[in-house]
Amino acid sequence: MKTFEQSHLLNTLPKQFFANLVAKVNKIVEQGYDVINLGQGNPDQPTPKHIIEAMQKAVENPEYHKYSPFRGQQFLKEAIATFYEREYSVKIDPAKEVAILFGGKAGLVEVPQCLLNPGDVILVPDPGYPDYWSGVELARAKMEMMPLERENQFLPDYNRLPEDVVAKAKAMFLNYPNNPTGATATSEFFQETVEFATQNDICVVHDFAYGAIGFDGKRPISFLETEGAKETGIEIYTFSKTFNMAGWRIGFAVGNPSVIEALNLLQDHMYVSVFSAIQEAAAHALLSPQTCVEELNALYESRRNVLIHAFREIGWDVTAPAGSFFAWLPVPKEFASSQAFSDYMLEKAHVVMAPGNGFGDYGEGYVRLGLLTSEERLVEAAKRIKALNLF
Ligand SMILES: Cc1ncc(COP(=O)(O)O)c(C=O)c1O
Repeated sequence: MKTFEQSHLLNTLPKQFFANLVAKVNKIVEQGYDVINLGQGNPDQPTPKHIIEAMQKAVENPEYHKYSPFRGQQFLKEAIATFYEREYSVKIDPAKEVAILFGGKAGLVEVPQCLLNPGDVILVPDPGYPDYWSGVELARAKMEMMPLERENQFLPDYNRLPEDVVAKAKAMFLNYPNNPTGATATSEFFQETVEFATQNDICVVHDFAYGAIGFDGKRPISFLETEGAKETGIEIYTFSKTFNMAGWRIGFAVGNPSVIEALNLLQDHMYVSVFSAIQEAAAHALLSPQTCVEELNALYESRRNVLIHAFREIGWDVTAPAGSFFAWLPVPKEFASSQAFSDYMLEKAHVVMAPGNGFGDYGEGYVRLGLLTSEERLVEAAKRIKALNLF
C-alpha cells in the first residue's frame, strides 16, 4: 500500500504526550491487574435523565433532520443569554455575542486561527491544558508561557512577564477553575487581567470548562462578570463537565462581538452547525432547574474531601483543590521527576496519575489526579500507596 506523506503542518503539531501514558496503562491492564485510573479527565457520571429525554423527543422532529442553521439555533443562543444573566448577571446579546461550538475544545483550537497571523504571540498558562498548544501551532503562531506557581495561587503574575513579550502579545488563554492545578480565580485577579489586557491590547480567552465545579461554598466566577471584560475578550463554556455531556460535543463562546464574529466566520467555512436535536437538549439543560449541577458539585466535593483526607492520613502533604475535578499533588522528593513518580505508581500500586510535565515545564514536580471514580476506589488508591511506605 502506498503511504502518502503528511503535510508539514501536521508534522509540526505537538506530540500527544498522554498517548504514551495510555499505552503504558493498557499494558498493565492487559496483564490482568486491577488498575485505578486517576489519570484522565473523562466525567464518570451519566448525562442527567431530563436532558436525555429532551434529546429523545427532539430526535423525532423532522425539521432537525435537515441541515441546522449555519450559526446555530436562535433558541439555544437565547437560552445561553438567559443562563448567563441568571447565573452570572451578565447580559449577552444572542445575535452578536454567542457562537455555538462542537465542544469547548473546538473553540479553543479555532481561536488562534481566528485572531493570529503566523508568528504572532499568544500568552499561554504553564501548566495548562495541552489542546491550547495545538490551536496555536495550527495558526503557526508563537506561544509565550505564563508560569502558574503555588506561591502565586497558580495565577499568572503579569508583572513578571518580560516587557517585549507583553508588547508583542495579541491574545491570552486563561482557565479557572484550572486544569490541572484545581485553583480558582478571584474577582481582583480578573480585574487586574482586564486592566492588563486593555493596556496592552490583548484579547483574553477565558476557558470556563469547570465553571460549575467549585468547593467550600465558593462558586467559580465568570470572567465576564468583571467590568470591561466583554471589551477585552471572550469566555468559552462547555456542557461536557457541567452536565456530563462530554460525548455530545457541544459548547459555546460568549463575549466580545468581533471575536464571536471571527469564530462564526471560520466555522461557516468548516462546518454546518451541531445537530439541532443536541442544540435543543442543550437549551433544555440550561433552562431547567440546576439541581443536577448542584448534586454533581456535591459529589465531586465529597470525593475531594475523601481523597485529601486519605492522602493526608498516609502522610502525603497535599493541598485541596478549590475547584475543577482535579487534585494537583506534589511529587515526593525521592523521585527525580513527575514521570518517574507516575511510572512508579502505575507499576507498584496500579494507580494511574498524570505526570505534571505533560502540562508544561512548570508542571514538573506535580502529578494530576482526577476525582472521577468512587470514594471506595479513591480510598483503595490511598491504601495501595500507603503500602509502598513512601511517606
Ligand atoms: C481545561 C479544559 N478546557 C476545555 C476542555 C474541553 O472540553 P470539551 O471539548 O469537552 O468541551 C477540557 C476537557 O477536558 C478541559 O480540561
